[in-house]
Amino acid sequence: MIIREVEPYQLRKLIDQSGYAIAKNILDVKILNDIRSTILSEIETSKISDSVVWSPYIGENNKLTYSNDEFQCMYRGYVFPWNNENKLFNNVLSEVDTLRNLVFPEMGHATIGKYSTYSVYRNNEGFLKGHKDSISSDVSVFQFIVPLSDKGSDFEEGGLYIIDSTGEKINIDEKIGLGDILFFDGRYEHGVDLVKGSGVGRIQMFSIPTNFIRPEDSPRLLDQISTRKFLRHKIRNLRNRWKRK
Ligand SMILES: [Fe+2]
Repeated sequence: MIIREVEPYQLRKLIDQSGYAIAKNILDVKILNDIRSTILSEIETSKISDSVVWSPYIGENNKLTYSNDEFQCMYRGYVFPWNNENKLFNNVLSEVDTLRNLVFPEMGHATIGKYSTYSVYRNNEGFLKGHKDSISSDVSVFQFIVPLSDKGSDFEEGGLYIIDSTGEKINIDEKIGLGDILFFDGRYEHGVDLVKGSGVGRIQMFSIPTNFIRPEDSPRLLDQISTRKFLRHKIRNLRNRWKRK
């Protein structure tokens, strides 16, 4: 899947300077287009389960979620490695994950697991509020994103941005397209401005680092989540379930 060698140390140097780095033309575009078609048909035909959650658990079934709230509006598909489905998707992400570990050796932290996901931001509704990523106070999160859409043809306005080390807001989607990979330090604020246009919208795949523990099972995790946020999530899921009946 990776068709060109890259130098992890060069990427890391750029990230340490500005917060992000883009590796151009290193993935097979034909394979990415196959994955993209599967995702687009999945969001048309699959049943939507819970809203987007913060903490999947080991053994969970693959699922497609949709959230439309004050923080985000997106479809997110979860493709867990233990389910042995959608192998192409997981194979590509596991190769990119290996590269991420070379760029960020810190990601080899013993308690971190990763799972594969895709996100679809439909035109004229999709967005994600600005935020910083964290797993816990002592673990930094270094992310990668594989774009499966192109700004200019799939959507015209908005898209992924990062506030870089100088404080400048950089529209990443204006710099990347199919075949490229974005690496960034999740401690820099990032988000997705409302995606606008007439095509399929903005699509991406990436693997999310997490600790695979249900908040209910971990007093430490539960401490980090406010009661209000926890209850709101539970109520939202109950409401979604009720709506689908
Ligand atoms: Fe994030």
